[in-house]
Amino acid sequence: MRISVIGCGYLGAVHAAAMASLGHDVIGIDVDADKVVSLAAGRAPFFEPGLPELLTGSVSSGHLTFSTDMADAAGARVHFICVGTPQKRGEFGADLTHVEQAFAMLLPHLTEGDVVVGKSTVPVGTAEALAERLEDTGATLIWNPEFLREGFAVQDTLHPDRLVYGLPTGTAGQITEAGEKARQALDEVYSVSLSDGTPLVVTDYATAQLVKVAANSFLATKISFINAMSELCEATGADVTRLADAIGYDERIGRRFLNAGLGFGGGCLPKDIRAFMARAGELGVDQALSFLREVDAINMRRRVRMVDLAREMCSGSIVGRRIAVLGAAFKPMSDDVRDSPALSVAAQMQLQGAHVTVTDPQAIDNARLKWPDLRFAPTALEAAEGADVVLLATEWAEYRELDPVVLGKVVNARRMLDGRNVLDPATWRQAGWTYRALGRP
Ligand code: UGA
Repeated sequence: MRISVIGCGYLGAVHAAAMASLGHDVIGIDVDADKVVSLAAGRAPFFEPGLPELLTGSVSSGHLTFSTDMADAAGARVHFICVGTPQKRGEFGADLTHVEQAFAMLLPHLTEGDVVVGKSTVPVGTAEALAERLEDTGATLIWNPEFLREGFAVQDTLHPDRLVYGLPTGTAGQITEAGEKARQALDEVYSVSLSDGTPLVVTDYATAQLVKVAANSFLATKISFINAMSELCEATGADVTRLADAIGYDERIGRRFLNAGLGFGGGCLPKDIRAFMARAGELGVDQALSFLREVDAINMRRRVRMVDLAREMCSGSIVGRRIAVLGAAFKPMSDDVRDSPALSVAAQMQLQGAHVTVTDPQAIDNARLKWPDLRFAPTALEAAEGADVVLLATEWAEYRELDPVVLGKVVNARRMLDGRNVLDPATWRQAGWTYRALGRP
């Protein structure tokens, strides 16, 4: 199948490389010329495990090419829209500029029978409006949300846990004839996953768009729920990690996504719950999602609490104190610093007069672009040199495995603030550290 993938960021680049690895002929289109040059040379422009191998394999087999020219999308049968939908400046709603632009530029190159597949996360109602604009082209729109996680994007794309197709429906709610035809094309694209038995949910546009934001809202709620329990644990001397283990054994609850700590960040969960609230307001059902305001508030409070705890550990003031922050990425196995809790805590402390040194195995370059005033060090040991307190803010494996004795030799004072509840308190205390954490005694 000839495929175009429009937008080659975290989603599009992985999608393009993964589809090409399955034997499709893929052209990836992006407006960023540097990114296109890098991808065309088989180099991933961001850190994503497994992507470099997938890219070099697909580029050298000739199945994957890249271009900045939308005209090169002509001739493809299926066109995936994978551009970003960030939060609008100063507003909760999603900024659809990139979706609008990609769509407008693609339109003149579409021909009868083409299938346009929306994968970007959009406010419900967007697909319906885009589909109307396709009417004169003879192309059909399918809404096919993606659920990949950064750090596991290759695995999630090649082996998704489910596929969702939002298809055009007629007045009686039935899938239209054009919709059925388009579906066959998408089935062909995903034939490997489908024959592996991946569950497929076929539905209408509105449901498909809602599935994505509902899933991310649920995950955000789960994290904020356990972080709310963290606040209770802090007030009572209880241990949130044991609490999560105990409730997680109930299969209806489940232990995954119940890791209390500094909370969620990244380019998806925070902006998706806000855009969802904004859209609910426009639809006149804002009350239905007012709980997401609290989910957001609990999440942001964790960052404040982390700074307060660091202050407490430094006898009431962080002014002039040397603080090491381990982690800048919003989560391990990623170099993405968008809305990173780690970086937000580091920047807050710097603004409040501390001397902050940040380290991260992958995200230093991105972090420096965002906060050039912070100091950066290549390793945990170098960042912790002379530190009055060390903060673990992103749970990279190498920070979980730090030796408290070795680290204890370079710091000024043995104070560890574990923002992700991943260290063993007993081991650190035995090595002479004052150990504090979010939600643990
Ligand atoms: C998220 C969803 O998990 C994906 O399913 C979705 O496709 C994606 O957004 C998207 O919309 O594109 P991602 O942003 O890569 O994926 O990251 P997650 O693994 O969901 O983690 C989000 C944040 O929650 C991270 O900051 C992480 O540290 C935090 N988190 C996660 C916790 O604080 N506690 C947990 O128990 C789990």
